[in-house]
Amino acid sequence: MSAGPTGAASTGGGGRGARFIDWIDERFPLTAMMKEHVTEYYAAKSLNIWYVFGVLALVVLIIQLVTGIFLTMNYKPSAEDAFASVEYIMREVEWGWLIRYMHSTGASMFFVVVYLHMFRGLMYGSYKAPRELLWVVGMLIYLALMAEAFMGYLLPWGQMSYWGAQVIVSLFGAIPVIGGGLMEWIRGDYFISDITLNRFFAFHVVAVPLALILLVVVHILALHTTGSLNPDGIEIKEKKGPTGIPLDGIAFHPFHTSKDLVVIIVFAIIFASVMFFAPEMGGYFLEHANFEPANLLKTPEHIAPVWYFTPFYAILRAVPSKGWGAFLMLAAIVFLFLLPWLDRCKVKSIRYRGWQFKVALGALAISFVALGALGLQPDTPLVITGARVFTIIYFAVFLLMPLYTARERTKPVPERVVYHGHE
Ligand code: HEM
Repeated sequence: MSAGPTGAASTGGGGRGARFIDWIDERFPLTAMMKEHVTEYYAAKSLNIWYVFGVLALVVLIIQLVTGIFLTMNYKPSAEDAFASVEYIMREVEWGWLIRYMHSTGASMFFVVVYLHMFRGLMYGSYKAPRELLWVVGMLIYLALMAEAFMGYLLPWGQMSYWGAQVIVSLFGAIPVIGGGLMEWIRGDYFISDITLNRFFAFHVVAVPLALILLVVVHILALHTTGSLNPDGIEIKEKKGPTGIPLDGIAFHPFHTSKDLVVIIVFAIIFASVMFFAPEMGGYFLEHANFEPANLLKTPEHIAPVWYFTPFYAILRAVPSKGWGAFLMLAAIVFLFLLPWLDRCKVKSIRYRGWQFKVALGALAISFVALGALGLQPDTPLVITGARVFTIIYFAVFLLMPLYTARERTKPVPERVVYHGHE
């Protein structure tokens, strides 16, 4: 064994491969980076299934980027041709149907995975100090993801693409004074037109993916600065062995990667099942109205956004005034950003927290899912009343958080992570 220029151990003068790595290391810190982020990044041995959704989000991000490139090769971003070019991809381009369904299924799967990833953060207190910035960057990723999905949905230029965009863009009109001008500025026209489609295309294929990739890099660098938390909410860095390695930590590669690989395979099976057997998912992943070309003169009977936006859409409809509805919709997201500062409890993991937090987290999850379901329904009086009740519960969880988290009777947190290996 000999040490490379970066202090990296290589297999010595022998192999060509090792000599090639040494050659690179003299010019670029490859081995040092692999060690820091992969082979010598230590995460708790007790990480459970909830910790795979970050990796799955990375997998879906790659699927979206790759399939997106291939879709762009045949898609035409003009009001005249867009709808027909998507049909062309589905019927004429070789494997085009597969690429398109991978991309549309990927969009929904992205949100499934990211919502579960965020819920894990809530359960185990991953947003608390010292991971506040990691959480805030995660929230910026969530915003970018919503922008990406919203603009992507206009591209097929179907009925729901058109009218959905119409509803969302008109929300900006509710902003006092600048609303009208802002709406025009976003659309580039007096209505959603070819010009709007062109700029949404530019944002969807270039600007937002670039921002997403950068944010994900920052997210992972922040994660590797603080270290991953674990289901016990214990900082493993505080208990290190004589070698300087956390006593409860195991290397990301090969120990966590081998477990992640199993989950990636299971995820691929689920993904493929949806893609091959139910790509429209009963109208939830691809809405029926979007199989009709956009018609500027005919509003669809019932306009609803795709499922991952419906919790916010339900909040919007729950409020009689459009301006306040839009404001509350925004507030629903802003409160998530503020979570690290609203939660005053010192204990991180739900395992050792008091009943108040458990009730609040349950109420938050139930209200979010209920709002999502209500947002999909036509706005009957019953649906609106339900949405009002769950909107109040959703906001109460955040507004009262500084009070009930300060009073929590927590359980003692163990010194070391709780882990039952396979005896
Ligand atoms: C494209 C989307 C995203 C990707 C690719 C991504 C990637 C990752 C990865 C690979 C990890 C480490 C593995 C794990 O703990 O699951 C992680 C951890 C984390 N992510 Fe994300 N993430 C994304 C979105 C988000 C969002 C939307 C949030 C929250 C608003 C978030 C908050 C966090 C937090 C707090 C951690 C640390 C968890 C802990 O150590 O306990 N991430 N992320």
